[in-house]
Amino acid sequence: MKTHVDINWSELGFSYIKTDFRYVSLWQDGKWDKGRLTEDNTITISDGSTALHYGQQCFEGLKAYRTVNGKTVLFRVDRNAKRLNMSCRRLLMPGIPEEKFIDACLKVVRANERWIPPHRMGTLYIRPYVIGIGDNIGVKPASSYMFGVFCLPVGPYFKGGMKPVNFIISDYDRAAPFGTGAVKAGGNYAASLYPHKLAVDGGFTDCIYLDPMTHTKIEEVGAANFFGITGDQALVTPKSDSILPSITKQSIMYLAGNYLGKRVEERDVYADRLDEFKEAGACGTAAVITPIGGIEYNGKMHFFDYHEEVGPMTKALYDLLTGIQFGEEPAPDNWILEV
Ligand code: PLP
Ligand code: COI
Repeated sequence: MKTHVDINWSELGFSYIKTDFRYVSLWQDGKWDKGRLTEDNTITISDGSTALHYGQQCFEGLKAYRTVNGKTVLFRVDRNAKRLNMSCRRLLMPGIPEEKFIDACLKVVRANERWIPPHRMGTLYIRPYVIGIGDNIGVKPASSYMFGVFCLPVGPYFKGGMKPVNFIISDYDRAAPFGTGAVKAGGNYAASLYPHKLAVDGGFTDCIYLDPMTHTKIEEVGAANFFGITGDQALVTPKSDSILPSITKQSIMYLAGNYLGKRVEERDVYADRLDEFKEAGACGTAAVITPIGGIEYNGKMHFFDYHEEVGPMTKALYDLLTGIQFGEEPAPDNWILEV
């Protein structure tokens, strides 16, 4: 087998590509089986499966990186394992033991070695998921579950890479107060499809959601967290119980404070106080760090100081984060797992 597939890596976007192997494990009679790799990317399940009707499903997203020394590494995979288990608990699904989650990710990456983009030419996106399956019709948790992991090579999630993009604040909510906003349930994403379409139709890259309780504070983007950079280069991110706790956000908060010596604040961010920021961005596994140039709110466009080129602090955080992920910078303990 060739060491690399024939792909024009520089043209990679964020689109489905069928790779060679995926992992599947089943929960039956109260326990997970040992799991296996398969070449089949289709799933046959009962038409009564709770995942299909009642959204009893959740997922994760993480990446494998080809380092400058040609090794392959996973970034903070233990955090994704823990978050998947939080999602499973909220949706009354059996959790995945952390070792099983990590082992499944390692198996899938190793089995798809030839799909891992060369150093800094892209990444291998890993998508673990848990779905409720089996014969059912009542609104109740399934009796059987499937845990799957597949992967595919990806490039930038938001086209434009490090060029600032414009967002609009949506009138819609992606999550309810005390709902499922803080876990990675598919239903949150279903709710975001229509507001996202409205944003794109209006010429924006995506939309930003406000807190569902008061509609005054910035929460997050449909697939990434939000951050702003103040005039004295403090990193500010929204604090809320209805946003997904982003591992990328937690990582840049640590890097801004401990590597760059900047102030870090996790607190309320008011939509009508955007002028407190010189720079802004979206962060996440898929989004990495995407600079936001401007945000429309109530029909008025607010441009940040750095709206044509990426700002210095956003760039510093991007360089540091990706430097660690691609093995060019020393990583904090336990952030990197060699495949
Ligand atoms: N917020 C939402 C709604 C997401 O889907 C994601 C992506 O996973 C994030 C934030 C970023 O989280 P992370 O940095 O853990 O990928
Ligand atoms: C991720 O960043 O991993 C996500 O899950 C975002 C999106 C592709 C749903």
